Order: sequence, then structure tokens, then C-alpha cells
Amino acid sequence: MIRKTIKLITVACFSALMVGQSGAFALSLSHDKVIPAELIQYVVPRFSLKTRIRFDRVDSVGDIQFVTERPESGTQVLELISGEMVYIRAMGEAAQSPEYRAFVDWLVSDPGRATIADFRIDGRQIAIPAEAQEAAPVEIVIVGDRDHGRELSWSHCRRCHKVDRADKYAGIGNAPSFHAMRSFDDWYLRFSTFYTVSPHKALISVKGSGIEKNRELITIAPIDLQMSDINDILAFVHSLTPLDLGKPIQFNP
Ligand code: HEC
Repeated sequence: MIRKTIKLITVACFSALMVGQSGAFALSLSHDKVIPAELIQYVVPRFSLKTRIRFDRVDSVGDIQFVTERPESGTQVLELISGEMVYIRAMGEAAQSPEYRAFVDWLVSDPGRATIADFRIDGRQIAIPAEAQEAAPVEIVIVGDRDHGRELSWSHCRRCHKVDRADKYAGIGNAPSFHAMRSFDDWYLRFSTFYTVSPHKALISVKGSGIEKNRELITIAPIDLQMSDINDILAFVHSLTPLDLGKPIQFNP
């Protein structure tokens, strides 16, 4: 009982931390004036809810932009009933970020297109999603060192996750096992970005990721990683046998 209470308190502290920090390091997002702000406000949170990837909405030029003039590189995502085509594009390094790619993939996917089509102003649909596109198969390039990834996972992630099937440890309550997550279609994205989402955000620093941490906020032993460590963990997770998806999802098998 007492242990349970302590756990609850810990979780509460984590959540409080996260609420305070959420969005602080997100990519920024802006849109041309002719694109109704209500449309963006409708679409973006639905993506964030699903993926926990958030963008900071800005009025100036964002890292990610919805524009109506065809950009040199970008993706057409919808057409307004006023006739303008709307494209999405990203500036500089943001274009390579998993967050941006996930957003574009979602916008042209069935759920993303349905969200765009659902939006109404005064009962009228104002945006027509882009033609369905063949989803390009995600190309996964494994460059990391699997054995080092395994070591890192055992020493850092096993505090909370079951990281290997042979491992008898069950993990903490709400932390899914690595096998369960390996069976998700988007495992690669999740394992590329885990350090940007709760509860890791407060705990794990990745040198070179551009994300600064306030060490004073961290109450348990922090974890310091390099970008190359993330690739090594990806290589390790890639080598795991995914949990059988035919069965209902078990988070802690
Ligand atoms: C302090 C405990 C803790 C540690 C340490 C930890 N995790 Fe997690 N992790 C969690 C919890 C809890 C969740 C589930 C969060 C949720 O569903 O809201 C999670 C979720 C994840 C996810 C899924 C994220 C998503 O997008 O849904 C991945 C991937 C992940 N962890 C990888 C790792 C890796 C790799 C490490 C080690 C470098 C690690 N975690 C260390 C607690 C932890």
C-alpha cells in the first residue's frame, strides 16, 4: 500500500514536471494567412494526440510551414474550396526530422485526410484532402552497433522497461516492453524520438540533439546519451522479434 502510494506520488511529480515543460523544445509551425487558422487548430492537435508529437504554433516563419505557393520541396496536402492548393514544407534541418516526416505521412494517410475532410466552418467543408497517395514504404537504415545498443538498453532502459525476452524482469507498470513496441508499425519512429517524450524528457539527455536540460529539475539519476547511442539502441531493437500481433496487444508480456 505504502509502496503503491509512493509510486503514485512519483508519477504525479513526473506529470507535473512534464506539464511544465511540454512543448518547450518542439519544432515551430506557421501558416499562410489565407489558410484559416481554425483549420490548422483542428488538424494539428489531432495529430499530436495520436503521436504525442507537438509543434509550437507561431505567427512568424516556422520550422514547418503550410504555404499556398508551390514550394521547391514540400508536399501537397489539401485544396481549399476557395481554390488555393496548400502545401507543407520544412526549413533546414527540420525537413529531416522524424517529427516532420511523421506529420507529412499522417496528413496524406487515411486518418489525416479524413480529419481534413471533417473540418467545417458554419457547417461547410472548406478543405479537400490531397489525392490518396501510395504510402511510400518507410526505409529503415540500420547503422548502429547492436551489441552496444543491448548494453545501453540493459543499463539504462531496464530501470523501467523489459528490454529482452529472456529477461525475467517485468518492467514498471505503464512502461511497455521493447518487444511489444517492436511490433508497432512505427517502432522506428518511437525509438528515434523517445527522448523527446515523457517520461524520458526529464531524465534522458542526448548530446547533439539540440535539446537542453535543466539538471536541477532532475531528481533521479539522469541518463546521458550520444546521438550514436540512439542508433545503437535502434539496431538492438531492430534485432528483437516483434511480439505476435495476432494476439491482442499486451504491454508487458
Ligand atoms: C523512468 C522510467 C523509464 C526509463 C528509464 C525509460 N523509459 Fe521508456 N518509457 C517509460 C514509460 C512509463 C513509457 C510509457 C509512456 C506512456 O505511454 O505515456 C515509456 C515509453 C517508451 C517508448 C514509447 C514512446 C512512444 O512514443 O510511445 C519508447 C520507444 C521508450 N520508452 C524507449 C526507452 C529507451 C530506449 C530507454 C532507455 C534509453 C527508456 N525508454 C528508458 C519509462 C521509462
